[in-house]
Amino acid sequence: MRAHRIAAIALGSLLAASACTSRNGEPPPAARTAAASPAPLPSGSEGALIALGRDIIERTPARMPGYVRAGMSCEACHVGAGTKPHGGSFVGIYATFPQWNKRARRYIALQDRLAECFLYSMNGRPPAYSSHEMVALVAYMAFLSRGTPVGENLSGQGLERVVTERTPSIARGERVYAQQCTACHGASGAGDGGRPPLWGARSFNDGAGMHRIATMAGFVRYNMPFGSPPDTLSKQDALDVSAFVLSHARPKFNRHATIVFPPLPASYF
Ligand code: HEC
Ligand code: HEC
Repeated sequence: MRAHRIAAIALGSLLAASACTSRNGEPPPAARTAAASPAPLPSGSEGALIALGRDIIERTPARMPGYVRAGMSCEACHVGAGTKPHGGSFVGIYATFPQWNKRARRYIALQDRLAECFLYSMNGRPPAYSSHEMVALVAYMAFLSRGTPVGENLSGQGLERVVTERTPSIARGERVYAQQCTACHGASGAGDGGRPPLWGARSFNDGAGMHRIATMAGFVRYNMPFGSPPDTLSKQDALDVSAFVLSHARPKFNRHATIVFPPLPASYF
């Protein structure tokens, strides 16, 4: 059952991605479109590994307690378990690493990028790169990326940055929040059940990408209120409400912490 669901979702998103134009504005090459036809979920242990990766994205605190302090799963920002364009899609990203990372000022592997989201967005700590969980996450992203030529960026990957001429206003944002967000995220921003927190102790920390107003506004504009069509909020509303959300206290990232992965016996290799 579960295997079919993953295959169906991957099919939908791959088709959606291939229907768009690439970042340089040219239509996607025919070869890529053809290669984007869905691979069925592999059977046996490989399929199980991919399914585990997806399950971790959907239920991160339950699957990886001890690695996550934020009260949410990866899916909170990677909508549809990373299958939605403009919603933190993972489709095709396996083909874009290693890539230059501005913050780290070095080339990073996909595992490093996952580690960033564990550290900042989940306010936690990354699993070892050799761990079963990390390999499962990479396997899931590789599965969603099948057919994407290495080095190609797909349209709808990453979050759009929103900027406007008018300076964002916290006061206007507070009004938007009361009308459009309180029902799910609560007046206190603490979330509720499946609705993740937006600020406070259980939210992402101040090092997270979502902590940048232009990035949050890009996410909000396409994906919130959850279930509404994109553009329900104007760019200005999205920026104002993000300014309001980000005006509240949240955990601080500790830059001086050291990440230690357990040592491995030589026999592991
Ligand atoms: C609070 C929101 C949030 C949560 C939770 C979150 N992420 Fe992210 N993630 C982001 C943002 C923001 C980006 C950067 C998107 C951009 O630059 O356009 C990102 C980027 C990524 C990327 C790179 C995508 C790309 O387009 O290159 C990966 C991979 C990723 N996240 C994995 C994860 C995993 C795995 C988890 C859970 C352990 C997770 N994220 C949880 C917000 C989040
Ligand atoms: C109908 C319920 C609903 C409404 C209304 C809603 N959200 Fe969300 N929001 C969600 C859900 C559910 C998620 C997690 C997405 C997922 O699981 O795919 C989410 C995720 C988020 C996230 C990323 C995760 C996090 O916790 O940081 C942000 C930011 C966000 N919402 C902001 C807003 C803003 C701003 C508004 C008002 C404009 C809003 N939301 C309205 C349900 C809602």
